[in-house]
Amino acid sequence: MSDPPVLRLTLRDGHPVALRPVVPSDRDRLAAGFAQLSADSRRLRFLGSVSTLSDAHLRYLTEIDGHDHVAWGAIDLHEPDAPGFGVGRFVRLTEDPTTAEFSLTVLDTAQDHGVGQLLLALLAVVAPSKGIRTLRGVVGRENERMTRWLRRLGATSAGSGQDLVMDLHLPIDPAVSDSAADFVETMEQIRGELDRAEQDG
Ligand SMILES: CC(C)(COP(=O)(O)OP(=O)(O)OC[C@H]1O[C@@H](n2cnc3c(N)ncnc32)[C@H](O)[C@@H]1OP(=O)(O)O)[C@@H](O)C(=O)NCCC(=O)NCCS
Repeated sequence: MSDPPVLRLTLRDGHPVALRPVVPSDRDRLAAGFAQLSADSRRLRFLGSVSTLSDAHLRYLTEIDGHDHVAWGAIDLHEPDAPGFGVGRFVRLTEDPTTAEFSLTVLDTAQDHGVGQLLLALLAVVAPSKGIRTLRGVVGRENERMTRWLRRLGATSAGSGQDLVMDLHLPIDPAVSDSAADFVETMEQIRGELDRAEQDG
């Protein structure tokens, strides 16, 4: 079997990162990253009071089939053995196979540097090749930052309960906002790196 692709990119401040698919041996890395997350970030990501990850949950988060469940991690190339900067994933909905629910987690210490954008752009590049046309985020209403960002990318929202269901339809239209134009540019960069990694592999 060929090695999983590794994409080499830089954050807005030039910091080097690698994006690569999550593999089962990332369990300890993921558990260590979860331990470093603030209570707020845990709540926003897991929409509840998840304080530990069980073995079964860790297995679920790391044993990825790459088709119905896709997950990539962002590794800090200055500290490649550290837990990494974050993870983006999507899981196909059984009731609507062209839609997948996505989630993003960036360690608090790495937030606001563009890691989330790289991870979501990567998901938006990979999703169509798996037959996914809509990336759905289920976002807590208090997560204004995420809801504003998704709206700037053109997502539509629904839901009357505690959480908003936000649908990002692919392809993303760069004309929707400056953020969307910037996002589509990041997607192009990622697509180029993915092609390069696939040719090398
Ligand atoms: C939400 C999250 C994934 C964003 O990741 P990040 O690496 O910090 O985000 P980025 O630096 O890539 O910025 C993404 C967007 O948010 C905006 N943003 C960044 N920091 C911000 C802040 N403090 N306040 C408001 N907006 C902010 C950026 O401007 C960017 O939008 P733009 O492209 O329109 O300018 C990250 O904060 C996180 O993991 N939060 C906790 C878990 C969570 O909320 N997950 C989402 C549930 S699906």
